[in-house]
Amino acid sequence: MTVTRGLEGVVAATSSVSSIINDTLTYVGYNIDDLTENASFEEVIYLLWHRKLPTAPQLDQLKQQLSSSAQLPHEVLDGFKTYPIDRVHPMAALRTAVSQLALYDSEADKMDPEANYHKAIRLQAQIPTIVAAFARIRKGLEPVPPREELSFAANFLYMLSGKEPDPIAIEAMDKALILHADHELNASTFTARVCVATLSDIYSGITAAIGALKGPLHGGANEAVMKMLMEIGTPNNVETYIREKLIKKEKIMGFGHRVYKNGDPRAKHLKEMSLKLTTLTGQPQYYDMSIKIEKIVTGEKKLPPNVDFYSASVYHSLGIDHDLFTPIFAISRVSGWLAHILEQYENNRLIRPRAEYTGPGMQEYVSIERRA
Ligand code: ACO
Repeated sequence: MTVTRGLEGVVAATSSVSSIINDTLTYVGYNIDDLTENASFEEVIYLLWHRKLPTAPQLDQLKQQLSSSAQLPHEVLDGFKTYPIDRVHPMAALRTAVSQLALYDSEADKMDPEANYHKAIRLQAQIPTIVAAFARIRKGLEPVPPREELSFAANFLYMLSGKEPDPIAIEAMDKALILHADHELNASTFTARVCVATLSDIYSGITAAIGALKGPLHGGANEAVMKMLMEIGTPNNVETYIREKLIKKEKIMGFGHRVYKNGDPRAKHLKEMSLKLTTLTGQPQYYDMSIKIEKIVTGEKKLPPNVDFYSASVYHSLGIDHDLFTPIFAISRVSGWLAHILEQYENNRLIRPRAEYTGPGMQEYVSIERRA
């Protein structure tokens, strides 16, 4: 047996959803640079689920399906009020609420493609509502119901703040959602595929994926980056702070990647957005600190920033609570998880690798009174 730690370089599935080839990320063959520049997040959802860009009527239909499915069962909203709200992380709330959604979906355990597509629509539509509603309820505010005429990105911002969102914020959110939508066999997508490969239901797959995304080595890194920027406080402190961390062999969040070694193609878009938004909102220090950190970490460790690094200052500039950064990642990535789950069902085989045993050899059972 050869053990490949962390499954690095192991090809564990075929997929036609997205690819990373020569440090270029494509969704169904479309370069993310092109999609970020020209598409809407709704078009990207359609692309991932149908493997082609939608026509205008197809896009309208998807938008209509999403906007009419965004309301939550009242039991899920009521559930938030029973949580120990002052210490529950929004990712934990999201994980619980998504699992709870299954209880109120009469198609939850139906496995035919039509029922699975209905569930995909509902999950994609309801996850932003969960994130926004939880964010408000924990502050003692009433949830804001979704508005059907708004785009996906605008509706999320509206449900979060209760105010008409600013066009620049909508554009930034839309682009961020596109950039986070899918990423080949990343840890949370793999988790989703492993889960549904047992022929478990979609809600189980998405709940499992949310759990995997929550960790700081994966989606949780964007919140950790913001925590670091807040701790550093000012560009003058960057040098000492980062060098101390490197001396202590601590990881700098938002840097490094399992697949990209020459740079994450998503990071440049977020870097541009960070410059624009931190300038517009009069908080240039967050961009300035980020640039300084990047210079040191790429110089010392040859590690380029990943998608999470500049997304932190982008979301901060949009006035979003820092612990909502990873749930926003989930709002986007659920589109990719769903595409992969549907693909897994189409050509399923149980995913069950082996482990090399490193424990003791054969032992004889010793009764409890004879044990030392
Ligand atoms: N800061 C400092 N050193 C790092 C970093 C970092 N961010 N990332 C990797 N290294 C170092 C490791 O310490 C290790 O050094 P060593 O060989 O001297 O022990 C070497 O680079 C290899 O690192 P691994 O952790 O083994 O690399 P792996 O491919 O397993 O991990 C990962 C990739 C998890 C992304 C890693 O780079 C990391 O922890 N980064 C910080 C967390 C982060 O930003 N995660 C988000 C990733 S993107 C996403 O999931 C959306």
